Amino acid sequence: MAKKSLSTGVKALDIVLGGGFPRKSLIVLAGSPGTGKTIFSAQFLYRGCVVHGEKGVYASFAESKNAFYENMAEFGFDFEKLEAAGKFRFLELSTVKEKALPTVIELILKEVTEIGAKRLVIDSFSALAQAFTDRHEGRVVLHSVISKIFRVYECTTLLIVEQQCESKKEVNLGIEGFVADGIIYLKRGSLAHRPLRELELLKMRGTPTPETHLAFTLKDGFTAFPAFKAKQVKKPQRFMPQPDTNGSYSTGSADLDKILGGGYQKGSPVLIEIGEEVSTFQYHLLLVPTAWNFIVQRRGVIVIPSAGADHNVVSKRAEEGGITSEELNSLVRVCIKEYPGIKLEPYIVSLMGNGISEDYARYLAVERELAERTSQPTLCITGADMLVGAYGIKDTLATLKLEATRIRETGSLGIVLLKPGYHRLAKILGAIAEVHLKVKQKHGKIFVYGVKPRTNLYALEVATAKGYILPKLTPII
Ligand SMILES: Nc1ncnc2c1ncn2[C@@H]1O[C@H](COP(=O)(O)OP(=O)(O)O)[C@@H](O)[C@H]1O
Ligand SMILES: [Mg+2]
Repeated sequence: MAKKSLSTGVKALDIVLGGGFPRKSLIVLAGSPGTGKTIFSAQFLYRGCVVHGEKGVYASFAESKNAFYENMAEFGFDFEKLEAAGKFRFLELSTVKEKALPTVIELILKEVTEIGAKRLVIDSFSALAQAFTDRHEGRVVLHSVISKIFRVYECTTLLIVEQQCESKKEVNLGIEGFVADGIIYLKRGSLAHRPLRELELLKMRGTPTPETHLAFTLKDGFTAFPAFKAKQVKKPQRFMPQPDTNGSYSTGSADLDKILGGGYQKGSPVLIEIGEEVSTFQYHLLLVPTAWNFIVQRRGVIVIPSAGADHNVVSKRAEEGGITSEELNSLVRVCIKEYPGIKLEPYIVSLMGNGISEDYARYLAVERELAERTSQPTLCITGADMLVGAYGIKDTLATLKLEATRIRETGSLGIVLLKPGYHRLAKILGAIAEVHLKVKQKHGKIFVYGVKPRTNLYALEVATAKGYILPKLTPII
């Protein structure tokens, strides 16, 4: 028996829709030019065919068959092969001379019936509608034709609607909106002045859609991102060292290294700026692998935790990377303010209490001892909010400036974390930093981008395949 729903060809969308589109439905896919409608539709047909064995027809007023096949081959969709196997038909409607609606409809139905298609794309309704003399006629014809396609041939149809501008109000107004079982709206948005592609579910009959906004990218096809989900590691493994490349420390994450052109350059003060509603788990994805990578190479790591993290969090994260307690106690130093009843371990340094000069001198002594004992550079992680809380903005800035100079001179690596709400500090620290990354949240999705070096947006997800948690970063293009 056929499944109740029909895969959309986009994994995240299938999940959000509880399996996919309702079978035998009419789905309107709307958006302005260049938003990815053709690519979405092509993937819907291609995966439908290759993964689910459902034949498809693409009826196009817009592109020639050759252009379509060529463009889609770039995404790995080999429609020529599908056509040769009798699983796919491309109907070039731009060449049909008699543009009268009945002719066009007949042509489409003929292709659908001849191969027994279960999926049909009409690109676009806007072109098809030109054959209607009035809106009423259009609605009646569409109704009768589409219902025929569904009842008789059990075919699900994607109806592409070209929009002139980026305003979604129009979508609901057309005839197509009334008749459709579902409306998907593709749009170009932005985040931090960087292009962001977004998919919005405006309507989906018979399907609860708790999540209506997805981000997507057109890299290697149409890939959507639902709200961020943490994942559990199934079989924990020890972190595998990531080699440094010429002049740079690996971040411990291949994805992040790639964005940064090999990692953090030696002697770099780094600023990781954290946006509103970004959780500790989320920004730790970018930070913790770098620390693991230092430790497994027997390099030292010294940490002044941000608010919300402390020595317990550090030791827990270390454990998640398979770091032993011997390594923790010999290579890691966490600076905290001592409190009554604390169980002091070798990796805990009691600090923050005697004024910034004295505390900084003690910090430097701890760092020097680590560097000398390991004969290797140290990674210094500092939660700026903790310093501000303990010493005030002015002293914090002065010290972080000194620290940045020291990092540059010693060729080590310093990462400053900055929580939201410190605008002035962000500006000044951004100016000092060699690398400045930001983590932002929108509609529950997490994005990472570089201010220095300037990059586009990357969607942040969790990768667990290696047996420990790593960031998965996909460019939005
Ligand atoms: N090989 C490719 N890889 C990634 N993105 C591409 C590629 N080719 C085209 N694009 C992007 O796809 C967009 C066009 O997608 P398309 O589905 O044709 O849009 P629409 O049908 O909505 O006009 C372009 O804006 C371009 O940015
Ligand atoms: Mg198109």
